[in-house]
Amino acid sequence: MEADKAYLEAIQHGRYSEKVSDLRCKYDHVRIQFEDFITAYYLRPHLEKLVENKVNGSGDGLRFYDLGCGTGDGYELLSKMAGTTKLSEFDNRLIQQDMMSQYKGIDLNVDLLKEARNLFGDYEHVEFCKGNFSNGLPIEEGEYPYDLYFTSYGTLSHCNDEELEKLFVDVAKHGNSGSILLCDFIGRYSYEWQDLWTDNHEEQPYIDYLINYLYAEQDREKVEVSSFPLRLMSPPEVNKVLENASRKAGVELKVERYFDRSLFVGRHIETGTYNGNPQPLRLMVSSLFERGLRTYFPDLKVSFRPRKGFDWQNEALQTLADSWNALVDYTMVLMEHYDSDEELLPYPPQTKVKPLEKAYRVMRQTLEGSKGLYGDIRADLIEAQLGYALRSLEMNLQHGQGLAHGLVAIVRVVK
Ligand SMILES: C[S@@+](CC[C@H](N)C(=O)[O-])C[C@H]1O[C@@H](n2cnc3c(N)ncnc32)[C@H](O)[C@@H]1O
Repeated sequence: MEADKAYLEAIQHGRYSEKVSDLRCKYDHVRIQFEDFITAYYLRPHLEKLVENKVNGSGDGLRFYDLGCGTGDGYELLSKMAGTTKLSEFDNRLIQQDMMSQYKGIDLNVDLLKEARNLFGDYEHVEFCKGNFSNGLPIEEGEYPYDLYFTSYGTLSHCNDEELEKLFVDVAKHGNSGSILLCDFIGRYSYEWQDLWTDNHEEQPYIDYLINYLYAEQDREKVEVSSFPLRLMSPPEVNKVLENASRKAGVELKVERYFDRSLFVGRHIETGTYNGNPQPLRLMVSSLFERGLRTYFPDLKVSFRPRKGFDWQNEALQTLADSWNALVDYTMVLMEHYDSDEELLPYPPQTKVKPLEKAYRVMRQTLEGSKGLYGDIRADLIEAQLGYALRSLEMNLQHGQGLAHGLVAIVRVVK
């Protein structure tokens, strides 16, 4: 299988499952602070409801099924997900140890499964098995339903529509009423692959995907990397498959929400493989979160070039780019005034964009409150806050339309 070969190359390169926090690797700061956070943020209310139902009902723990689990990152994300807790409380996990009765991860790739077992195999109620989801949901006779059928980071884009429909039918039949299916796809209109945009979806169902982003820019041309097809998805395309599956299963699959993840910080924003306007935005945002390292702000600004004939996509991305750039500019102005020891830091420009208004306020408050604090306050405090503020712009100025690297649908089984 083409994808298996490409993942193997990434593992051999040594960066795929590396756990060190670095600026360019699988677990860079954008992955942790933007992508994992955003997935957890939107999934949390649904998990809270599942936990509540269990506590008030059977009292049994939750059962999770991670399809395409790779090295088991899904287990980490779910078991570490924060609940609503007070600052003074130490343990902020939403799912406490005794609330997880089963986590099962399946993957086709035995090398990734081996790594998953090394990392999490000793944990109670955790199992990793070889399994294939392209012929429907791999389950054994009598296997109990799961509360969450989980996928992550574009995993369901490995399926064609026929395979996807079969998988959805099986989940609809196997799940309980109230079970959640998290469907993670590659977004159709990400700026990373602007050259592939088309409104005739059948003309370009797939992207010929390359995991070349793990290599430094100077090595990217030299190494030969295998490609594999990933299904580009927009909400109407996902809805169509879900509706067909619902009809076949005789069970409603209700979309609770769509969200976009990584609008300007997807892995391919800097490669230029599918867009002639590459820019080092992912690296710069990662640098904002790196302790002790100052970021070069001019490279943090988005250069968005609209593509003719794609009005709603251009408008939405331009709005985010304008707010993003305005916030970076304002933060630079604040730092200059801070240095000049002026009594009062400048107030932000007027804006009608509510998320930007709040982000401006937070940055001003951060600089005001940071006077006299220990350490390199730019590298460790101001830049980290700017990272969170940019994340909040990305989250609040998107509508789950397939405009990002990842398009995620949260679907509920209704019986
Ligand atoms: C994008 S990776 C995501 C890995 C992991 N969930 C993560 O978050 O890092 C997709 C994973 O799906 C696996 N995969 C692809 N097609 C599959 C299939 N038909 N059945 C099972 N696993 C598959 C790949 O081996 C890979 O580990």
